[in-house]
Amino acid sequence: MRTIAIFNLKGGVAKTVTTAAMADCLAATHGKRVLLIDADQQGNLSQYFGATAEEGRDLLALLQGANEPYYPDFVTPARPDIDIIPADMSLMYADLDAIKNGRCNLTAIEDLREAIAEDAASPNTEDWAKAYDYILIDCPPAFSAASTAALTAADAVIIPIRLDAFSTSGVAELMQQVVNMRRANERLQVAGVLATQYQRTDVEIDTLALLAARSGLPVYRTTIRQSPRVSAATFAGESLLTFSPHCGAAMDYRRFVCEFLEQEGKENG
Ligand SMILES: Nc1ncnc2c1ncn2[C@@H]1O[C@H](COP(=O)(O)OP(=O)(O)O)[C@@H](O)[C@H]1O
Ligand SMILES: [Mg+2]
Repeated sequence: MRTIAIFNLKGGVAKTVTTAAMADCLAATHGKRVLLIDADQQGNLSQYFGATAEEGRDLLALLQGANEPYYPDFVTPARPDIDIIPADMSLMYADLDAIKNGRCNLTAIEDLREAIAEDAASPNTEDWAKAYDYILIDCPPAFSAASTAALTAADAVIIPIRLDAFSTSGVAELMQQVVNMRRANERLQVAGVLATQYQRTDVEIDTLALLAARSGLPVYRTTIRQSPRVSAATFAGESLLTFSPHCGAAMDYRRFVCEFLEQEGKENG
């Protein structure tokens, strides 16, 4: 089981769309079991998967809870092979708790991950809990309590970026972000940087080359093209691969997941 955080301090770079597309594709095309965690109080990921954050059964409850989470209490089944721990606006109480009285449990997701891994290794585990292949965590554009807990638990991070919004200082900013992420978790790997909303303009092509050459970060070969179907899916509150499975961006996400799995196989196979 691998835990991947989807993180970028910039908003609107397609963190949530990417997390949802990865989950759909990993489950439906590659037969993987996925646990999604919505770490953004905007709750868009929860909405895409039709999950509501009920009191006591969401990420807030997990972050406010004790050390030994009984994780089935927090998990909502969403689709075949996809479960989710949802969130909504109330997730901000985790930040308030952390600031006011230090009562937020920043290792809660890590503890959950360990509890799941232990159960998966036990011969008595019920099937549904047995084998999450991936935990994918959709992060907010901030170092909040929830995203710090996410980075603490993560093996690796995927960083979606928009090249059209990348200024000349973008590469340095991105590298500084990675330094800051490693303050939360020094073992954190960067799985890769993923260019989204890509339009193949000359500036974007040059910036992508510059990023690969200068940042020292792995950059995915696959880029995700801009497609009006993605905004339409967001507007409808549905994940892209169920809303518009044949549009260009959906095809790109399927290619991306193949590249992601290929790289995972090399590193962990
Ligand atoms: N490939 C794409 N083509 C067109 N619009 C996109 C694409 N990817 C994301 N978007 C749009 O950009 C906006 C931000 O995406 P979102 O995943 O919510 O970003 P983040 O989670 O990083 O804030 C949404 O309205 C979404 O529909
Ligand atoms: Mg988001």
